[in-house]
Amino acid sequence: MSQMQNIQWFPGHMTKTKRQITQLLKLVDAVAEIIDARIPISSRNPDLSQLIQNKPRVILMNKCDMANQSATQSWIDFYKKQNIPAIAVDCKSGKGLNAFMPAVKSVLSDKIEQWKSKGMVNPCIRTMIVGIPNVGKSSFINRISKQNKAKVEDRPGVTRGNQWYTISKGFELLDTPGVLWPKFDDQTVGERLAFTGAVKDQIMDIELLAVRLLELLNNIKPTDFYERFKITPADTEGLTGYELLQLVGKKRGMLISGGEVNTERAAITVLDEFRSAKLGRITLELPKDL
Ligand code: G4P
Repeated sequence: MSQMQNIQWFPGHMTKTKRQITQLLKLVDAVAEIIDARIPISSRNPDLSQLIQNKPRVILMNKCDMANQSATQSWIDFYKKQNIPAIAVDCKSGKGLNAFMPAVKSVLSDKIEQWKSKGMVNPCIRTMIVGIPNVGKSSFINRISKQNKAKVEDRPGVTRGNQWYTISKGFELLDTPGVLWPKFDDQTVGERLAFTGAVKDQIMDIELLAVRLLELLNNIKPTDFYERFKITPADTEGLTGYELLQLVGKKRGMLISGGEVNTERAAITVLDEFRSAKLGRITLELPKDL
């Protein structure tokens, strides 16, 4: 469980974070932005481009094990057109992580050439990880460090407390990821982060949340979702979100006395199964939604 999950962002906190990240940016050559491949729009920080200015950036589409593969590919293509290399990774299993260093080197190719032409011996590439809470920043750092048997180094002269993981000769990661805020003033963003479990349920009405998720799923129409609840898109035609919730509850036999559906139980089931990808590998946001 992320220790960052409970962060409450407020203006003073955001200003402090911005200041810290601006300071840390001076120490790195590139920024790796981690996003959730299921919600590539809602899991991004709205101010990142402004914050990092011209610092070369790569995007890690994490949790790709739970996202739709062709949707992930369409995002990778989309970012490629903007000259931002994006890679699909699964920091739980480590899949895709060997594309990380090549991606960072590719955005730094001009700089690496410059270093070479200046005759720099053993130049070191330094990268900072950033992302909103729960996208998998610590998982990424742990995974890539383990896979590469990283060494942790305290380096005198840099901001006290900053440590570097040497993940390969001439390639280092700042050990503390930059925790950024999502676009939380947007209700849709808040909802989508709650669908994935990135923000806590307790602050939301669980049934309403499940209703909104079911409405969205019924628009996207992922086959696995219908199969899982043994329904067809035709069964759901013309139904309101709440009726959808009743339908899936009924299909699972979640009834209370009098034959009514236990919609609270159904809501918890829908959210749990979406979060653990039991409803299939589903991406909720596509480039066309931008
Ligand atoms: P953060 O530092 O950005 O806040 O995120 P963190 O690494 O803590 O990851 C948040 C949650 O997401 C963790 O689950 C983590 O295991 C999970 N996670 C990270 N990367 C992936 C991935 O690529 N695929 C999948 N399926 N899950 C991923 P948790 O429930 O908080 O803890 P736990 O299940 O690890 O105990």
